[in-house]
Amino acid sequence: MDATGQEERVPVRGLEGVVAGETKASYVDGANGFLIYNGYDIHELADKVSFDEVVYLLWYGKLPNRKELEAFRSRVVSEMRLPSQVIKMIELAPPGAHPMDLLRTAVSALSMFDPDSGNLSVEANERKSVRLLGQMMTIIADMYRVREHQPVLSADPTLDIGPNFLYMFRGRMPDEEEASAFEELLLLHADHGFNASTFAARVTASTLADMHATLTSALGTLKGSLHGGANERVMEMLEEIDHVDMVDSYIEGMLNDGQRIMGFGHRVYKVEDPRARHLREWSEVLCHRADMAHFHDIFHRIEQVVLKKKGIYPNVDFYSASVQHALGIPREYFTTIFSAARTAGWLAHAMEQYADNRLIRPTSRYIGAWNQKVVPIGQRS
Ligand code: ACO
Repeated sequence: MDATGQEERVPVRGLEGVVAGETKASYVDGANGFLIYNGYDIHELADKVSFDEVVYLLWYGKLPNRKELEAFRSRVVSEMRLPSQVIKMIELAPPGAHPMDLLRTAVSALSMFDPDSGNLSVEANERKSVRLLGQMMTIIADMYRVREHQPVLSADPTLDIGPNFLYMFRGRMPDEEEASAFEELLLLHADHGFNASTFAARVTASTLADMHATLTSALGTLKGSLHGGANERVMEMLEEIDHVDMVDSYIEGMLNDGQRIMGFGHRVYKVEDPRARHLREWSEVLCHRADMAHFHDIFHRIEQVVLKKKGIYPNVDFYSASVQHALGIPREYFTTIFSAARTAGWLAHAMEQYADNRLIRPTSRYIGAWNQKVVPIGQRS
C-alpha cells in the first residue's frame, strides 16, 4: 500500500511492451524487423499472393485454393455497393468534411441497414465481415466520385477486390503494374499485431458491441497523425519541398525545432519496418513511369537525412504516401485507403475476440484529490 491507501500501481505509459492478449493473425518482431501473417513471412506473401488471399488467410486461418478464393472474392465484390440512403448521406455531407470523418460516419450508418445488425453469431459475423470489407472500399470510391461530380460506378465482377476499388475510385481500369502495386499496398497494410486501432477494435468487441461499432472505434483511432493519419501528413510535408536540394535544410530545420518527421519511427520496430522496403520499390517504379522521378528522389533523400541525423527509419506510412500519390490518389484519401486495407485485420481481430472473449477492462492509478467536501453551489468561489 502507498501513502494514499492504494495498492502500488505502476502504470506503463502508452502500454509499451504490455502483452494485452493473444492473436493468431499477425506477429511483429520489432528487434529483427519482420512481420508474419498467420505463419507466413510478409515478404513472401508480398511477392506471391494477392490481397484477397491474405484477407482469406487472416479470417479463415489458411491460404485458399482456387475455388475457395474465387467464391470468396465474388462474395466480397458482390457487396461493393451501398444502400441509397448512405449514398445520399455522402452527398449531403459538407464538402469540406474530412474523408476519414465521412468514412467513419458512413460505416456507423451502415449498421442501421445491415440485416445481421444485432446478430453476434459466428455465421452472422462472417457475413458482416464480407459485407463490410466490400462496403468500406465502396464508401471511399463513392465519396470521391460524388465530390468530383462524377457518377458512382458499379464493381466489375471480373476484377479482384483491390483493382476493383481503383477502378471504382478513378473511373478507369488499372493497368497490370498499377493493379500489382495497389494489391501490395493493401496487403502490407492488412494487419499489424496489437496496434492502436486494432486494440481499440478489440476493446469495443470485448464489450459485445457489434462489428459496425468495432469498426467505427478502429476508424476513429486510425485517423490520428501518430498512427494512420501520418501518411497524409507526409504528403503535406512533401508539398513544401520543391526540390531534392531543399531536403537537408528543411529536415534539419524541423528537427532543430523539435518537430517529428511524419512517416518515421515506430513503437515496435527498432530497425527498418519490413513493409517500407516494398513500398520504397513501388514508389521508385511508379514515380518513374508517371514522370515524377524527382518526387521519389525527394522521398529517398528525406530517408537518408532522417536516418543520419536521428537514426530513425521510415515506417509504412512514409512510402505509402508516394505510392498513393503516384497512383493518382489525393492526399486527403490516403488514410481511408489504409483503413480499407486494415479492415481485413480489424475484422479478423474482432472475430478472434468474440470467439474467446473476456471484457477488456484495465485499471488505473488514481492521482486526483482525496477527502474533498461538497460546498453548496451558492457558496462556491
Ligand atoms: N521524428 C523525429 N523524432 C522522432 C520521431 C520522428 N518521427 N519518432 C520518434 N522520434 C524520437 C523522439 O523524439 C524520441 O527522441 P528523444 O528520446 O530524444 O526524446 C525518440 O525518438 C523516441 O520516441 P518516442 O516518442 O518515445 O517513441 P514512441 O514509441 O512513443 O513513438 C511514434 C512512436 C508515435 C510512431 C513516433 O515514432 C512518431 O511520432 N512518428 C511520427 C508519426 C508516424 O509516422 N506515425 C505512424 C506510425 S506507423 C503506424 O501507425 C501505421
